Formats: sequence, C-alpha cells, structure tokens
Amino acid sequence: MTISTNKWTQVVVAAAVVCGVCVWAAVAVPLHAQAASGIWSGVYTDAQAKRGEGVANKACVSCHGAELMGGEAGPTLVGLEFLGNWNSLTLGDFFDRVHATMPADAPGSLSLQDTSDLIAYVLKLNKYPAGEKELPTDMSALGQVKIEGQPPAK
Ligand code: HEC
Repeated sequence: MTISTNKWTQVVVAAAVVCGVCVWAAVAVPLHAQAASGIWSGVYTDAQAKRGEGVANKACVSCHGAELMGGEAGPTLVGLEFLGNWNSLTLGDFFDRVHATMPADAPGSLSLQDTSDLIAYVLKLNKYPAGEKELPTDMSALGQVKIEGQPPAK
C-alpha cells in the first residue's frame, strides 16, 4: 500500500513537471520573442533615457545641437531625416555606429553602458515608447531589434 502510494506520488509529480514545462513553453517563449523584436513594444526605460540625456549634453550637443535636433557641426538625430537613414537596420547597427565613430572628436571613448543609454535617449527623442526593461549592451540582443519608422500594423 505504502509502495503504491509512493508510485502514484511520483507519477503525479512527474506529470506536474511535464505540465509545467508545457505551460512555460506556451507562455514564456512567445513573450520573449515579442520582447526581443518590436522597437514599438518599449525597449528602454525612462530612467535610462534620462541618463543618456546627461551623456548627450556632455558629449554630443556641441555638434548635434540642443536635444540633438541638429547643429552647426552635426546632423539632426531626430525625425524623418534621421529615421530614413536607419529604417530597417537594427539597434545593433546603430549601437555599433555610435560606439565606433562618435563623438566625432573622440571616437571610441564611450563606454558600452553610455552608448546604450544614449540610444535610449535618441529613441525617446524620436517618440518610441519607453517600457519596463533597459536596453541591453549585448550586441546579439540589440541586433534583433529592427528600427521601424512606423508602428507595426495591428
Ligand atoms: C565633433 C562633432 C561631433 C560630436 C561631438 C558628435 N558627433 Fe555625431 N556626427 C557628427 C558629424 C559631422 C556627423 C555626420 C558625418 C558622419 O556621419 O560622420 C555625425 C553623425 C552621427 C550619427 C549618424 C547620423 C545619421 O543620420 O545616420 C549619429 C548616430 C551620431 N553622429 C551620434 C552621435 C552621438 C550619440 C554623439 C555623442 C556621443 C555624437 N554623435 C557626437 C559630429 C559629431
């Protein structure tokens, strides 16, 4: 009797584990895939954009103008003219460009975290919505986020 009770317990526990994995696969995997792709789903936080604004005010506005709207020594990073250059490329491409070539008077001087924060600020200026999670510094994740000028059709 005791033995068969134990066996049933094992069967129930095993079934519960299998079920748990199914539920996880059904719920977590699509959520993750969604979070990894849509630039309109909120890929940075407001606090991060705020930090990026601080970095931009020190390292970028001298050329790109107040709020990066364009200055004497650098083009605007806001609006259609800018987004047209980046449409259908990814945040990975954008990250690489900023990290490798900017600020133009000291390329390579930005930390990975400052670069990520700057991108969050540029996304905010271009009216992409903020979300719950910070933009990472990890290239493989950034490379999955396409820069889309329009919200995806519902
Ligand atoms: C010394 C002046 C100068 C500074 C400082 C500077 N930039 Fe630039 N930036 C330029 C110029 C000039 C261009 C256009 C020529 C080029 O593409 O290199 C440019 C181009 C860019 C582009 C490409 C724009 C596009 O439409 O594709 C990005 C993105 C950018 N800068 C980001 C930044 C960020 C972020 C910072 C602050 C860390 C920064 N820049 C600081 C001068 C500057």
